[in-house]
Parts: sequence; structure tokens; C-alpha cells
Amino acid sequence: MDSSTHSFPKILVTGGAGFIGSHTVVSLIEAGFEPVIVDNFDNSEPSVLEGLRTILGREVTCYTVDCNDEAAMDEIFRKEALHGVIHFAAYKAVGESVEKPLKYYRNNLGSLWTLLGLMHQHGVAHLVFSSSCTVYGQPEQLPVTELTPRLPAESPYGNTKAMGEDIIRDSVRAKMPVKAISLRYFNPVGAHPSAVIGELPRGVPSNLVPFLTQAAAGLRDKLTVFGDDYNTPDGSCIRDFIHVMDLADAHVQALRLLDQQETSSFYDIFNVGTGQGVSVLELINTFEEATGVKLNYIIGPRRPGDVEQIYANVDKANTVLGWEAKRSLSESLSDAWRWQQKLQAK
Ligand code: WQD
Repeated sequence: MDSSTHSFPKILVTGGAGFIGSHTVVSLIEAGFEPVIVDNFDNSEPSVLEGLRTILGREVTCYTVDCNDEAAMDEIFRKEALHGVIHFAAYKAVGESVEKPLKYYRNNLGSLWTLLGLMHQHGVAHLVFSSSCTVYGQPEQLPVTELTPRLPAESPYGNTKAMGEDIIRDSVRAKMPVKAISLRYFNPVGAHPSAVIGELPRGVPSNLVPFLTQAAAGLRDKLTVFGDDYNTPDGSCIRDFIHVMDLADAHVQALRLLDQQETSSFYDIFNVGTGQGVSVLELINTFEEATGVKLNYIIGPRRPGDVEQIYANVDKANTVLGWEAKRSLSESLSDAWRWQQKLQAK
């Protein structure tokens, strides 16, 4: 079909100006989808839209709307003939969720509830939900598979992800005409190789890699490694660090898998990680080798709430989703560093 007749299925990307959302917008367009961004810019910057314009050479439709605003969201559903939804929009600061649980339950679950209602009303049948490995808590066995029992999440944030999965599962069980996939992210890191978009933490980063690159850039005095007395080979915690572009590509695969489903109601869950456990100290070494930058860090006390180690069994994503991570940790950290240097240059 020529471009005038070829349809580009429209995908509503809530939180599409955020870290994972914006990188997924790039992958969606490269895969022949038409993203429609909804973002209230509560935790993201309008400058991201400029970055997307630079990378893509075109505008991406964006509505400045809060996903909990049912009337405004209904307007978007009326205006845009949507093929599906990728739901990123949520508050995600683990520590803040412990201090302000109601803010998290209201926003994260309210937005999902509103979306599901509008999807049903407007006959939009495809949903990809942004979930998290945090639903596993500290797993008994590693690597975790999707059948690993979910443990009581360590935080209200983690609870909103587990409850979000249950809301979707129960809607599908009730034969709501929705085909849904929950993607359980492990630790997203890195940036688009162009260094035009990347992670934009507000204030002091709580996550490892943005704090690390800020310390390497001299914006922070030093990085503190939260504990080296864990029961791991080098004593530091182990995680599964996945390049944000690999994570973005997993969302495209999820949409394609949903398109293949014949039934009107479908639900499945996938771990989205590299399958490799990497310790905090190993990540620091990989950063120094990849960039040639010596990092100033100290060993400090454990951070309350941290799980000792978690990394993914990705067999199901590889075989059923038809997706696997392609980028190395070294590439992720080089891309993160290039993005940090670009931020300095602004
Ligand atoms: C990783 C490791 C820290 C900072 C959280 C959420 C998860 C997801 C990703 C949203 C830990 C150590 C960190 C520092 C350190 N978020 N660390 N010094 O906690 O694994 O996951 O973010 O979806 O849901 O739970 O990520 O990057 O905060 O920490 O030593 O300054 O790095 O102790 O072992 P985490 P993180």
C-alpha cells in the first residue's frame, strides 16, 4: 500500500513525555505506529517534545491532560481513532509513595480505572500496561519467572503496580473486550543513542544510574553505594539493568502480539529484562571501563526497603513475545554518559 492508503495504527501513550514513554514513542514510529501522547507534565518536561521532533523529523501529537480527568480523556478518545493504549502515566518514586500512599493509590489506580472505562466505552481493545519487577519483592528463587509468586510489595508504589495488574486481569476475566499485556520492567537505564532524549530526574536522583552520571559529571560530590554487606559475590545489591531502547522495543512487540490474538479478551504478563544479574559495584566498573571516567564513590549503609538481588528469567519474553534485549550494559552506560554530557552542554 502506498503511504496515502497505509494506515498507521494510533496508539495513545499516556506519560509519553516521560523517560520510558518518550523512548517508546521513537520505537513506535519506527515500527509504523502513530503515537498520540497524553501527559500532564507533572513529572516530565515539554522540552522532550522538541527532542522527539529532532530525532523523528516530525511532530508528535501531544495533549496536556491528566489521565484522571475523565472528561478531557473522553474528548481525546472521541477525537482520535485509537487502535490501542500504552499506559505509562504514574507516580513512581518508591520513597515518596511510603510518605504519601493516598497520592499514589489515587493517581496510579484512578488513571488506570478511567482509561479502562473509556477504552470499553469507545471500543479500544488493546492495552499495554507498565508494570514493574517490584511486584516480586525479594524473591525466594532467582532468576524470577512470571510464575514467581508476587510478594507484598515493599511500597505503595509497588502495590499500585500489582493492583493495576489485578484490575486488568479481573476485567479480562469478566470478559471485558480488552486484550492486555503487562510488562514487568526491571531496571531501565541509558538513553537514546542520539543523546537528544534521556532520563530527566527532578531534584536529587534516587535511582543509581542518573545519580552516578551526575557524580561523574561533578554535579554530585560522590556516589554512595548503599551497602556492600549483602549476601552477594561482591557484597553489593544485584539488579537487571536494561537499556531503555530495548524496553521501548518490547512495547512494540507487545502491540504486535495483541494484534495476533483472535479472542476478544486476552491477558498475559512478561518480564522485560536482560536476564543478567549485575551488582552495583560491577555496574560502576563497567561505567569506568566504557567511558574512561573514574567515579568517586564510597560505601555507605544499606538503603531501607532495598531487595538484595533480583533479575529476570526472560525465556517467556524471548519465546512468546518474540523479544530479547540486544544492547549491552556497557552501551547503556555509554549512552547514559553521553546524555549527561549533552545536558551539561545545554
Ligand atoms: C538500584 C540499586 C540501590 C542509588 C527502583 C524501583 C523500581 C523501578 C526502578 C520504577 C539498589 C543502589 C541506588 C544510589 C546505590 N522504578 N543505589 N546508590 O531500587 O532497584 O528500583 O527503580 O519503575 O520499581 O523500585 O533502582 O536505581 O534506585 O537502585 O547504591 O545512589 O542501586 O541500593 O541496590 P531499584 P535504584
